[in-house]
Amino acid sequence: MGIRFNEEKKIFNIETKNISYILSILETGHLVHLYWGRKIKSNKIDYIITKREYGSFLANLDNIKGLHLEAIAQEYPGYGNPDLRSPAIQIKLSDGSTVTDFRYESHKIFKGKKKLNGLPATYVEDDNEAETLEITLKDKLANLRVVLFYTIFEDYNAIARSCKIINDSSKEVEILRVLSANVDFNHSDFDFIHLSGAWARERHIVRNPLRLGGQSIESRRGASSHAQNPFMALVSPNTDEDHGDVYGFNLIYSGNFLANVEVDMHSNARAQIGINPFDFIWNIGPGEEFQAPEAVMVYSPNGLTGMSHIYHDLYRDRLSRGYYRDKERPILINNWEATYFDFNSEKIKEIAKEASKLGIELFVLDDGWFGKRNNDESSLGDWFVNKEKIKGGLNLLVSEINEMGMKFGLWFEPEMISPNSKLYKEHPDWCIHIEGRLKSQARNQLVLDLSREEVCDAIIKMISDILKSAPISYVKWDMNRNMSEIGSSAWPAKKQKEVAHRYILGLYRILEKITSDFPNILFESCSGGGGRYDGGMLYYMPQTWTSDDTDAIERLKIQEGTSLVYPLSSMGSHVSAVPNHQVGRITSLYTRGVVAMAGNFGYELDITKMSDKEKEEIKNQVVFYKKIRSTVQYGDFYRLISAFNSNEAAWMNLSKDKKYLVVSYVKKYGEANVKPKRLKLKALDEDALYKVNETGEIFGGDELMYIGLEIGELFGDYQGRNWTLNKIN
Ligand code: DGJ
Repeated sequence: MGIRFNEEKKIFNIETKNISYILSILETGHLVHLYWGRKIKSNKIDYIITKREYGSFLANLDNIKGLHLEAIAQEYPGYGNPDLRSPAIQIKLSDGSTVTDFRYESHKIFKGKKKLNGLPATYVEDDNEAETLEITLKDKLANLRVVLFYTIFEDYNAIARSCKIINDSSKEVEILRVLSANVDFNHSDFDFIHLSGAWARERHIVRNPLRLGGQSIESRRGASSHAQNPFMALVSPNTDEDHGDVYGFNLIYSGNFLANVEVDMHSNARAQIGINPFDFIWNIGPGEEFQAPEAVMVYSPNGLTGMSHIYHDLYRDRLSRGYYRDKERPILINNWEATYFDFNSEKIKEIAKEASKLGIELFVLDDGWFGKRNNDESSLGDWFVNKEKIKGGLNLLVSEINEMGMKFGLWFEPEMISPNSKLYKEHPDWCIHIEGRLKSQARNQLVLDLSREEVCDAIIKMISDILKSAPISYVKWDMNRNMSEIGSSAWPAKKQKEVAHRYILGLYRILEKITSDFPNILFESCSGGGGRYDGGMLYYMPQTWTSDDTDAIERLKIQEGTSLVYPLSSMGSHVSAVPNHQVGRITSLYTRGVVAMAGNFGYELDITKMSDKEKEEIKNQVVFYKKIRSTVQYGDFYRLISAFNSNEAAWMNLSKDKKYLVVSYVKKYGEANVKPKRLKLKALDEDALYKVNETGEIFGGDELMYIGLEIGELFGDYQGRNWTLNKIN
């Protein structure tokens, strides 16, 4: 593994045990892309670049006959030169022109990986884990540099890419577009997969063949969003879970993004991902730099499961951080769907007491404990305890809950401000707004202006004061509206299009400070469920509330879609009450448990209202989850039957040592007179025997994979089943 440079051929070969990513420097100094895919041993594949006449309307490069930049796969295309496809970078110079011409200047290869200034990114713990290539390109006329970074990890078949723009000139320039990664494929025989949805319906898998022209997904909402996740994959048309070439692109960023594929007139696909250029202009003055976020690119020749495993392992081990990164996550109970805003400390203690008797480990107090917040009409920004509801204060409540043998967690929504709040009265200009325009409210709230340093400092202080005031073990960090009327009273006119990105940088500064000042707190991010489920947030908080939709059947698709990229250890999933609060469906407690156990397990219901029989069942679920927890959170995840276009869903978790597995199955609707089905398992040792713990039966790994585990009779709608198996020889 490593990065090699062939001086004679001017070829860079970035490789792991299984993959190669190859680029080279053209005779003109332009950086071209040669190959990305299964490992290629040769270091001399520059024959891929061909000079030939393509007919009219393609300009020659440097007036060299037959050399058409637009007909060559490029590594980081600029705008205005003879490649007229979608650029990766566009800069407006002080003379008003937007043409640049970046050519190779120098490169470095070194062990390890540098941090990205102010931005979340994958990391190494030891320099031997990865190697980095840093290529500097220069536009001599404009006196600008672009530095491209490529890090390849020894143990993960992933390439982390980012870039930096440096202004060496004496004039200010405007960055109009700076994408983090660009890959030019020499064909377009791909399906385009992305994760789309809405609030309470996040990350449904969408798959379509590529067509000529542009196709893209993006967010313009100030957050990575419920609507589109900053992820896309290009997959060969035959791709399924186990077969096919898969190229994944995921942006480690929580704000506006663009993931774009352009299929050109010769049927080449150009794939790009980065900050959304829409409504974005960044000014860099003389001597200043701009760092773009990181894109993590994964190639797998082994279908979607192969890609997911790489993302899961890398994000679990080298994107998430902190005390809880490798720790089993506590089973929690959250009072939101149990009480909404209508609670006091007595009610909270009743729920916690009952939960502690059933083995639940953490109580989370959700929205409504601060200011005068008895509904969503006030108090965001007033982060002091409402002593009418929490009699005796937070410290007393926490110690009483701790005495029950449970940890205590607290909800915050620090990035927001209610116009009906003390904070707003003191600082009406602290929200994102444009002077003179309406401040549109969503959920009766406005977004705090995190592009301003003093606003970020105030948030750090308010939240830290509460966290210091009591032994809080967990924080749910919520964010419940997108940005509108984007503007800031702190910045001059020319910097207004920087505000959305400056907000995200401010947010990252706050998160860095708070998570490092309180290293033992488990942080879970949330944005009305999964409205900001991205690698940026995962860097600071190892788990996310997957969706506000807690219905077991709806969750099948949401969790499956999420699992394409993000590990199960990052997914909060809870059993809630029936009829379900989002869709009104009634499912059994058992099935709700089966689905919620495919993630960080918990409850979100009024446990005091449950019958003794139900409480007994919850107790058993808790015991069962504790047994399977490390395998679910830290094992390998396999999707066996997809919930999309099917009446069933099934999945399995295999421990890393491959000795223990958890198999789960859910059938949506009952069917009459159908033959009993078998569920074929994956990734077992075909020469080994496995014991099904629930029945005592013993089967060969080959039988389980090629004949399948008998599902058995499941009568009625929304039926589920869990099995655990041990390898016994
Ligand atoms: C949205 C979250 O997703 C819910 O879980 C809950 O915390 C509410 N906000 C509280 O306002």
